[in-house]
Amino acid sequence: MFGTLEKKLRPVLFYGNNPLSLIGGAMTSASAFVMIGFWVVAIFGHGGSRNPYLGLIFDLFLPALFVLGLILIPVGIGLRYKHLASIGQLPSAYPRIDLANPVFRRGIEVVIAATFINFVIVGTASYRGVSYMDSPNFCGQTCHVMAPQWAAYQVSPHSHVACVECHIGSGISAAVEAKMNGTKQLVEVTFHSYPAPIKAPLSRLRPARATCEQCHMPTRFVGDRLLVKTAFGDDEKNSVTRTVVVLHLGGVDSLSHLSGIHGHHLNNFEYVATDETDQTIIAVKAHNADGTVTEYVSSDWKGPVKGVERVMDCMDCHNQATHIFQTPQSAINEAMQDNSVSPSLPFVHKEGLQLIQAEYSSQTDAAAKITHGMEQYYSAQYPAIWNSQRGQIERSAKTLVAIYKRNVFPSMNVKWGTYPDNIGHNDFPGCFRCHDGNHVSKDGKTLTNDCRVCHNLLAVDDKNPKVLADLGMQ
Ligand code: HEC
Ligand code: HEC
Ligand code: HEC
Ligand code: HEC
Ligand code: HEC
Repeated sequence: MFGTLEKKLRPVLFYGNNPLSLIGGAMTSASAFVMIGFWVVAIFGHGGSRNPYLGLIFDLFLPALFVLGLILIPVGIGLRYKHLASIGQLPSAYPRIDLANPVFRRGIEVVIAATFINFVIVGTASYRGVSYMDSPNFCGQTCHVMAPQWAAYQVSPHSHVACVECHIGSGISAAVEAKMNGTKQLVEVTFHSYPAPIKAPLSRLRPARATCEQCHMPTRFVGDRLLVKTAFGDDEKNSVTRTVVVLHLGGVDSLSHLSGIHGHHLNNFEYVATDETDQTIIAVKAHNADGTVTEYVSSDWKGPVKGVERVMDCMDCHNQATHIFQTPQSAINEAMQDNSVSPSLPFVHKEGLQLIQAEYSSQTDAAAKITHGMEQYYSAQYPAIWNSQRGQIERSAKTLVAIYKRNVFPSMNVKWGTYPDNIGHNDFPGCFRCHDGNHVSKDGKTLTNDCRVCHNLLAVDDKNPKVLADLGMQ
């Protein structure tokens, strides 16, 4: 048995003893070792990475080396055969496979040495690639396509949470799916076939149970939460007003009783939207305590209830948990509150808003024109202030430019309002996608639109809310 096999192998080894085949063999075995090593780590270790772009290494680089090595072996064999045949030196009998034979021994030594060297090189390259690709820097910065999401991420409460925590989640199937997606995205970027702006459908993300809820307890009871919003006016003095709201966040109390905003929506509500980003919701099903289901359908919708189906979770409200895109108003109000746009400059709220909302061809164009616009306005309209408060004007202009650069990306077609925020109902449909007073059940129940169910409005655009004075907050 071994004898015949050995005989058949003799010509292969004889012709295979050439540099090309030996290098091919070493490449194949080295990349195989590295791949096996990574698989072992991924399956048993803690270091298994979930980065989607690792597909670049695992699905492209290592297999390519492996296959290239496999191809080099027969090519080398063929070339050596041809060479020997052309000079008429084909042997009549092939040498026996015998370790005592120095020619064989050297061949084997070369393969072992080359495998080892290749293993070190390929392994180091792959390991460094993995570490690099696992960093948020890689996800956010290498790829200019993600500039808008990266900019918003850096200043978010999750700026220390790795992209993969929310985008990939845990589990093997998540990792495989993400890898395929990542490879597809790399191809799209290479061939410039990605959508601009990048769409953000929640259906592409893992359910919150596998992501958000790994860190946040869904059942935590929050109770009421005080929300104070400060706004500046378009008058010369940039007059300040405040809105004070007590939000009934509720949650799950110690008796497992669901209440308020957080409590009620944990009940696996299923809804149907007509668009990928779930901005138009035509129907939602609520599960009642007695096991029955109430379906609320928008009375504006006449067709069959069909579309994008989803079970409501954290991200339906907190879709901007990390990629927080501001509205021009909220951005400038925030900046004026911390004085980085100076409220002492006359009409700075009105002028600033106009400047950041104008159309520009690029961020560079915007930076130049916003700065110029501020200088022009104050030097022409308020020469005294232009002379005495030059520093304030320049700093405010700088902040306005930063606000623009953080929210608007002409190269990706990302404008003000491209990415809706589903919390609230004043800037985007948000809660009113369902609670618009227009979603009605068959038996005539309307999904609530009562202001007091969600919050107490203690003051709305009030110059001097008494409640804040009472609370000692002014
Ligand atoms: C705390 C969770 C969280 C983290 C951390 C996070 N994201 Fe997201 N990301 C989301 C959610 C939720 C959406 C959906 C937004 C929407 O529907 O408006 C999203 C959407 C996106 C989108 C839009 C396209 C898509 O895939 O839906 C991109 C691109 C993106 N994120 C990139 C990143 C990058 C890059 C990082 C790391 C620098 C990151 N994200 C970190 C939660 C997160
Ligand atoms: C890896 C852990 C982790 C994951 C995953 C995560 N978060 Fe968080 N989240 C945090 C931490 C930590 C904070 C608190 C940050 C702080 O207080 O500065 C936070 C803060 C928040 C806040 C409060 C923000 C504020 O302004 O007070 C919300 C809302 C939130 N997360 C929602 C989500 C949602 C929705 C998801 C899923 C898309 C998610 N988180 C995923 C760790 C996480
Ligand atoms: C129906 C919409 C909705 C859903 C669903 C929802 N939230 Fe919230 N959540 C809110 C609103 C509204 C606030 C208050 C926002 C504000 O303060 O501006 C909030 C606030 C929070 C906060 C900050 C709470 C604090 O103590 O200040 C965290 C953390 C949070 N949510 C996490 C989650 C997680 C995790 C889930 C999923 C289990 C979830 N939310 C589901 C609407 C929702
Ligand atoms: C996908 C549709 C949908 C969205 C979006 C939605 N809700 Fe709801 N909400 C429901 C349904 C369904 C119920 C349960 C109605 C029932 O029990 O019959 C509900 C119940 C509530 C309740 C309890 C009402 C009561 O009568 O006690 C509150 C409070 C609430 N939602 C607040 C919010 C807030 C705040 C937002 C936005 C941050 C929001 N909802 C977004 C579907 C939605
Ligand atoms: C389904 C729940 C819900 C209903 C019903 C609702 N609101 Fe709200 N409202 C919210 C949430 C959530 C916020 C907080 C948004 C945020 O965190 O920025 C909010 C914020 C506000 C604010 C603060 C303004 C701001 O600058 O964001 C005002 C004013 C307001 N609501 C008015 C009303 C009025 C008036 C009604 C009744 C016609 C109403 N809301 C009904 C959920 C609701």
